[in-house]
Amino acid sequence: MVPISLSLFLIFLSSILLRPLDGAGDRLRAGESSGLNQTIVSAGRIFALGFFSPGNSSGDWYAGIWYNNLPTKTVVWVANREAPLRDPGGAAIGVTREGNLAVRDGRGRSLWSTNLTRDPDNSTGAAVAVLLDSGNLVLRRWDTASDPPLWQSFDHPTHTLLPGMKLRLNFTSGEATRLRSWRGAADPSAGDFVFTLEGRWGLEPYVFKGEEIHWRGPMWLGIPLFPLQLGDVNSRYLQSVYATDQEIYYNYSMIESSLLVRYVLDHSGTYSFRVWDDGAAAWNSIGTTPTRPCDFFNLCGGAASCDSSGQSPLCRCLNGFDPSAPEEWAKGNFTGGCVRRRRLLCDGTDRYTKIGGLKLPDRYSVAWNLSLSQCEASCSAACNCSAFSHTNFSTFNLTGSRCLTWFGDMVDLVQIPLLSQDLYVRLSAAQLDGDPPADDSPSGKNQAVIRIALPIAVSTGVLLMGACCYCAARKLKSRGKSDGGNLLRLEEIRLNDALGSEKGVPMVDLKSVRAATENFSISNQLGEGGFGAVYKGKLKSGEAVAVKRLSRASKQGCEEFANEVLLIAKLQHRNLVRLLGWCSHGDERILIYEFMPNKSLDHIIFDSTRSAELSWERRFGIIRGVADGLLYLHQHSRMRVIHRDMKTNNILLDGEMNPKISDFGLARIFEMNQMEANTARVVGTYGYMSPEYAMDGVFSEKSDVFSFGVIVLEIVTGKRSTGFYHYKNSLNLLGYAWQIWEEGRALELLDPTVDSRFEAGDVVKCIHLGLLCIQEYAADRPTMAAVVSCLAGEGGCGSLAAPKQPAFAIGRESNPLLPLSIHHRSEGRS
Ligand SMILES: *[C@@H]1O[C@H](CO)[C@@H](O)[C@H](O)[C@H]1NC(C)=O
Ligand SMILES: *[C@@H]1O[C@H](CO)[C@@H](O)[C@H](O)[C@H]1NC(C)=O
Ligand SMILES: *[C@@H]1O[C@H](CO)[C@@H](O)[C@H](O)[C@H]1NC(C)=O
Ligand SMILES: *[C@@H]1O[C@H](CO)[C@@H](O)[C@H](O)[C@H]1NC(C)=O
Ligand SMILES: *[C@@H]1O[C@H](CO)[C@@H](O)[C@H](O)[C@H]1NC(C)=O
Ligand SMILES: *[C@@H]1O[C@H](CO)[C@@H](O)[C@H](O)[C@H]1NC(C)=O
Ligand SMILES: *[C@@H]1O[C@H](CO)[C@@H](O)[C@H](O)[C@H]1NC(C)=O
Ligand SMILES: *[C@@H]1O[C@H](CO)[C@@H](O)[C@H](O)[C@H]1NC(C)=O
Ligand SMILES: *[C@@H]1O[C@H](CO)[C@@H](O)[C@H](O)[C@H]1NC(C)=O
Ligand SMILES: *[C@@H]1O[C@H](CO)[C@@H](O)[C@H](O)[C@H]1NC(C)=O
Ligand SMILES: *[C@@H]1O[C@H](CO)[C@@H](O)[C@H](O)[C@H]1NC(C)=O
Ligand SMILES: *[C@@H]1O[C@H](CO)[C@@H](O)[C@H](O)[C@H]1NC(C)=O
Repeated sequence: MVPISLSLFLIFLSSILLRPLDGAGDRLRAGESSGLNQTIVSAGRIFALGFFSPGNSSGDWYAGIWYNNLPTKTVVWVANREAPLRDPGGAAIGVTREGNLAVRDGRGRSLWSTNLTRDPDNSTGAAVAVLLDSGNLVLRRWDTASDPPLWQSFDHPTHTLLPGMKLRLNFTSGEATRLRSWRGAADPSAGDFVFTLEGRWGLEPYVFKGEEIHWRGPMWLGIPLFPLQLGDVNSRYLQSVYATDQEIYYNYSMIESSLLVRYVLDHSGTYSFRVWDDGAAAWNSIGTTPTRPCDFFNLCGGAASCDSSGQSPLCRCLNGFDPSAPEEWAKGNFTGGCVRRRRLLCDGTDRYTKIGGLKLPDRYSVAWNLSLSQCEASCSAACNCSAFSHTNFSTFNLTGSRCLTWFGDMVDLVQIPLLSQDLYVRLSAAQLDGDPPADDSPSGKNQAVIRIALPIAVSTGVLLMGACCYCAARKLKSRGKSDGGNLLRLEEIRLNDALGSEKGVPMVDLKSVRAATENFSISNQLGEGGFGAVYKGKLKSGEAVAVKRLSRASKQGCEEFANEVLLIAKLQHRNLVRLLGWCSHGDERILIYEFMPNKSLDHIIFDSTRSAELSWERRFGIIRGVADGLLYLHQHSRMRVIHRDMKTNNILLDGEMNPKISDFGLARIFEMNQMEANTARVVGTYGYMSPEYAMDGVFSEKSDVFSFGVIVLEIVTGKRSTGFYHYKNSLNLLGYAWQIWEEGRALELLDPTVDSRFEAGDVVKCIHLGLLCIQEYAADRPTMAAVVSCLAGEGGCGSLAAPKQPAFAIGRESNPLLPLSIHHRSEGRS
């Protein structure tokens, strides 16, 4: 189209000569243009349109929109992302006389245009481009402001979703809004990642990397046949889903519209919600995905579920299925997924086993208003149907049911305890009759596979290990604290040595650690936490130690590790597990602790037979001990230490059932490593994390206080905060406890296995304290000092406030990042 670019050239030339912009406006009229050094600023001075050059040296220039008032230039939209200006001299963005918005370079060549075709008799001077305070650049007829715009940047987003933009899916054409990432932090050209909606029946968000699915959002539980206004997240965030049988769209806005927020798909494929923090003059990410292993699409392969709680193993075959490649599986390569142990017969004898709490698999067919048995029959009718799921829904004034069926592989299954969706998996009758009863825990079979394959994994590990950790040895030597050249053997640790805090703790050699744990044999494994597996180690003397083998995420440099160990060793308190030694060898980072015969609290408190061992007196003692230990970490130790992963798994019990906190100081080791990797991953455990930590990554002593509150409620009730789900009211433990408290029935929360010898006053005090600790706003929560003095009955309790409604355990449901599920707190309340 030579004539057009020629006329563009002439128009731009004339407009520059004749109608230079004075730089003060929020709009460009037909024939006007704005040059390299000029910006168009929205009426409220929120957004600016102009030219920018990302990074320092690239020299490429782009026309785009950014926030006008921020100290760091944050670009939200780019016009010519595929055609940068190499030589910016004379570049301009303007509205042609035909009414198109266009960018051209100094020689008049068009780099980008809205390409609208219009009736030539009906256009001259008719169009105006206005930059609105929402960040939308709207092209419309100048005389009819209310008409649908001719074009608007909100319909053509680049990598940012601003409040007011619509994420659409047209059911007829399949067309959907697409956010496409930049190629690099300073390269706006089209990157590999695309965020979009897919699916005929819902509003399922996906991030694609090229052709591959990178992340799949949760399935929307509503039905897409009516307009629906959804509730809020922390009452500042509004979102809507509107649906007709033609299309469905999603949008969001903030009640406090002065808050600057955006969703962005960054060049590494992570999708996050960001809020501008004026005080810090920076963007805060509130929730980012994918970050946890299970967030990544189909990590576990077919017919296997990924455990989002971070327990090991990460992937488990569904019952009735075995790993397709057992050796790979045992090594942690889950890509092959699982296969049926017994073939389906398709002769009407196949049966279904129900699995709860799953993010349902990808790629389903849907049918409305079938009963459960009709839904089952529809699956049985096809031999390749492998599972179905049935849900009654009742949303506002609409009721009905939804039947989903899956054909072939079931992929991208994730265990999310708070989701109440059931999957009925089809199995051959012989399987159900012949095999042990269904159970969600890893089957003995899987463990056998792991045991067989472990020696292979260990021996390859041995090859990778180099010599001793010379750096750490050097470091210690140079400080004159210990002769690092002479590594101790593990046996030489004298368990009863009073470890002088100045002396630090001895470094031991890997060989004796391996001997003590029988090469980290799985039969010696005591448990696995977020930071790595723990093994029981036996010294030659027969005494036992606990050996924590830190997981790969902690493989930081030797020197940093040595420094951290020195700090951790100085933390000594009767309610903290004692560090006895450490080892750093090649890739291995190992900490050696005193052995706790009664394992961790969760082994007892949640076990219906063992929990009776914990009388109220013991439980109260444990609560007080944990509070003392935490207070020491927060205030009385030399360094202020925030634990960041307080949970019942990290509270160990000695022979007399005295509690000792473990894993303190480890969050730092992990975090330092992550800063290097430039990822902002939250260290912590779902179900215990305070809202500000889970959502903003902001942590303080008060985030530990929150976790402490969860632990107190768990100890009192004997129920897990995550697994417990009060179906009728859609409440988790925290919400449930608050409700019962509000109804004045607090004592009913006490674990029924506690015998009748308890002090009702202490029980109520603990529940009260627990609820105070889990309040939504950190400032409302008490300090550990206040908690300890109240528990000790020193009169500090007199002024106990009434707890406010707690922040419910943060799960995916209330994460604004995942806007598409309707399970909100506002609904949980009613
Ligand atoms: C833009 O401003 C820079 C200095 O800020 C100046 O060197 C350059 O000549 C200006 N360009 C135009 C086209 O005015
Ligand atoms: C820009 O330059 C500064 C200092 O020269 C450097 O620290 C920064 O990393 C550079 N940014 C980019 C995107 O290259
Ligand atoms: C406008 O048309 C040109 C030429 O057909 C094309 O290269 C360009 O990508 C189009 N621009 C937009 C924004 O679609
Ligand atoms: C000019 O275009 C507008 C909308 O694009 C239309 O409503 C109007 O009828 C047209 N006028 C003429 C004279 O074609
Ligand atoms: C959806 O796409 C079809 C076919 O392209 C189009 O006719 C229809 O107007 C679109 N619907 C909406 C609501 O945009
Ligand atoms: C979504 O868009 C519709 C129509 O433009 C608007 O009425 C609604 O208020 C928007 N919803 C939110 C949460 O901003
Ligand atoms: C993972 O296992 C699959 C078979 O399940 C195999 O094809 C693939 O090569 C393995 N990948 C790695 C990295 O070992
Ligand atoms: C679903 O609805 C049907 C019919 O209304 C009812 O019989 C059935 O019990 C409901 N199922 C559940 C799980 O509530
Ligand atoms: C359901 O409620 C919506 C809005 O609340 C209303 O527009 C619609 O007419 C109602 N439908 C029925 C069947 O009552
Ligand atoms: C399902 O049943 C409900 C109540 O009987 C009805 O209102 C709704 O329109 C039905 N939905 C479909 C898709 O048939
Ligand atoms: C399942 O089998 C039916 C025929 O029974 C066939 O039409 C359908 O394409 C198959 N689906 C898949 C995913 O294999
Ligand atoms: C541990 O492994 C090493 C080398 O792989 C082997 O020599 C040693 O015998 C093993 N020790 C035990 C207790 O299995």
